[in-house]
Order: sequence, then structure tokens, then C-alpha cells
Amino acid sequence: MNRSYFLMSSSSGSTILPSLCLLIMFAFAHVHMYPSTVISQPPQGLDYYYYDKSCPRLQMMVGFNVWAAVKNDTRMAASLLRLHFHDCIVNGCDASVLLDDTQNMKGEKNALPNRNSIRGFEVIDSIKADVEKFCPSTVSCADILSLAAREAVSLAGGPFWQVPLGRRDATTASEKAAVDQIPAPIEPLQNIFKKFTSKGLDIKDVVVLSGTLRQTGPNTGFLLATKLAILVSKKDASNSTLAPLDSTSNDEFDNMYFTGLLNNNGLLESDQALLRDQRTSGLVNSYSAYPFLFSNDFAASMVKMGNLGVLTGQDGQIRKKCGSVNH
Ligand code: HEM
Repeated sequence: MNRSYFLMSSSSGSTILPSLCLLIMFAFAHVHMYPSTVISQPPQGLDYYYYDKSCPRLQMMVGFNVWAAVKNDTRMAASLLRLHFHDCIVNGCDASVLLDDTQNMKGEKNALPNRNSIRGFEVIDSIKADVEKFCPSTVSCADILSLAAREAVSLAGGPFWQVPLGRRDATTASEKAAVDQIPAPIEPLQNIFKKFTSKGLDIKDVVVLSGTLRQTGPNTGFLLATKLAILVSKKDASNSTLAPLDSTSNDEFDNMYFTGLLNNNGLLESDQALLRDQRTSGLVNSYSAYPFLFSNDFAASMVKMGNLGVLTGQDGQIRKKCGSVNH
């Protein structure tokens, strides 16, 4: 018998308890059934309506370009999300990852964790080109990255959230910073946690962001992707054909990463460590059982990640081209 029905029928003298239960259930359902918007106080200098007057069609231009790119290559959704992550985790979300190397600067783009691995530069460039036509020197590449990641996740069936805007672009990038700050696949979980927490993210953010897009082929969520990298490194380097690590892989955003862990489908030992670690096992269970909770928390963590170390006000610049600083 359904529990709420039981409560109603068994306590005919009092309707308070069942009403309260229904109220709580409704409130819970409301929160978790509509995980589409995360509105929180943005950090100083960012604003949800930042470009409403100066570039009112911005979100449409980003949306269209991401849609076209993902239609052409479904993996691009995952790639755009990762590009944003690799930007934010290295000295903040300032589009430094997009800067090409120059004679005087070795940037992040070709740093070991990124070289021949991060993708989606051409999508960001094409959004930027459109945006420059309609709103020249107005919208930062860092904001475009953040919006593109949101569109990508949403297109893949994930949540939609409001992105606070007003980031400005870095005028420099550092290969060393990328090497030092991007978590490496071979690092122990504890080190990976540290790299996030030192930036102001917490373990919950790590776990929830780890259940990120699953995609065709082997890269299913970052921990599985991590294991993939380890497996690949053990394979013949000339063999670029990767065996799928997870039979449930697809291009969509879902909570299967967590369900997989519970079913012991974590490919390598350290996947299952998330289940054994007291700080994370409850979250793995919850995200596996409640996809809406996962979706909601994922959106909240993305907003948090997107706010890391932003440049605002007079800091940095609005680059005209995302690959190079303005002269
Ligand atoms: C926490 C430590 C992390 C490690 C060690 C890690 C490592 C990796 C590795 C090795 C790959 C495969 C790269 C390749 O195939 O060239 C990958 C892919 C990916 N990662 Fe991470 N990652 C981490 C965190 C994250 C986070 C927090 C996110 C999301 C916010 C994320 C999103 C992705 C996505 C979406 C892909 C697939 C990208 C594509 O196919 O283009 N990762 N990651």
C-alpha cells in the first residue's frame, strides 16, 4: 500500500499529518522535478542580466551555434563542458584556455592535460564571430564558454540553469598552471579532491560533476574517462581504437555513472572507492536513486564552478578574438 494513502486512511481523526506529508512531498517534488534553473546570489561583478541591453540576442546565438555543432557531432556536447571545466580549474573562468601560444607565452592550450585532447575551439570561435557582428567588443570569451557549456548539457538532456554573466578575459595563460592545476588521471582521489577544494569547490561538487556527460564510446563520466586514460596508456600507443568501458554509454546526460558504480560496473578499483569513502558513498547512492537530485545538484555545482576566479570590472579585457589578446 502506498505510504501516503496509508497515512490518510489510518488517521481519520487527524488530517494534519497527511496534509503535512503531502506538503513536504510536494515541496520535495517541486524542487527536484524542475531542476532547470539555479538562481543564487552571483559573485560581485556578475549579473544574470548583464548583456540584456548590450547584446540581447547573445543567448540565441550561443544556443544556435552549439545546437548546430552538436547536431553535427554529438560528442561536442561533452567537449564543450570539458573545455569550460579546464578553463575554470586553472586560475579561474577567464578563457585563458583559449589563448594560442605566442613567442613570449606558452599557454594552456598545448599543456600536457590539454594537448590533442580538449576540443571545441572552433565552436567557441564561430559563436564569437557571430557575437562580434552584432555586439562588437562587448561579450567576453569566458562568458561564451560558460553559456556554451550550459547549452551543451541542456541539449544532451541535462538541466538548464541561469548563468551569471560579466566575466572578462585573461590577457595571459600559463602552461605550468595548467599542468599543476588540472587533475591528472593517475592522481589518487585524495589529491583530486584537494585540487577542487583549494579552489572553493567541495567534495559534493567533485562527485556530482564527476557524473558528467556520458558519450559514445568509452568516455563516460570523468572517473571512467580517467580509467580510460590509464587503460589507453597500457595499450599499444598506435592503436587508437578504444574498447567501450561501459555498455550503457550514450550521448546523453544521465545518472548512469552512479548506478554503474552501485552495480559494481566501475571499471577500475578507484571508481568503487567513491562508494567506500564515507564522504562520498551517500552521494553516489542518492544520485543513483534520484536522477532529479543529481540534475539539480549538477546545475548548482556548474554555477559554482563557473564563478571560480572570475575577472570583472576593469580587470582583464573583452577579447575580440578568443585565441589572442587585443593589441
Ligand atoms: C576530477 C578530475 C578529473 C579528471 C582526472 C579528468 C580526466 C579526464 C580524462 C583523462 C578525460 C579523457 C580525455 C580524452 O579522451 O582525451 C576526460 C574527459 C572528460 N571530462 Fe574529465 N576529468 C576530471 C574532471 C572533470 C569534470 C569536473 C568535468 C565536468 C565538469 C569533466 C568533464 C569531462 C568530459 C565531459 C569529458 C569528455 C570530453 C570529450 O569527449 O571531449 N571532467 N576527463
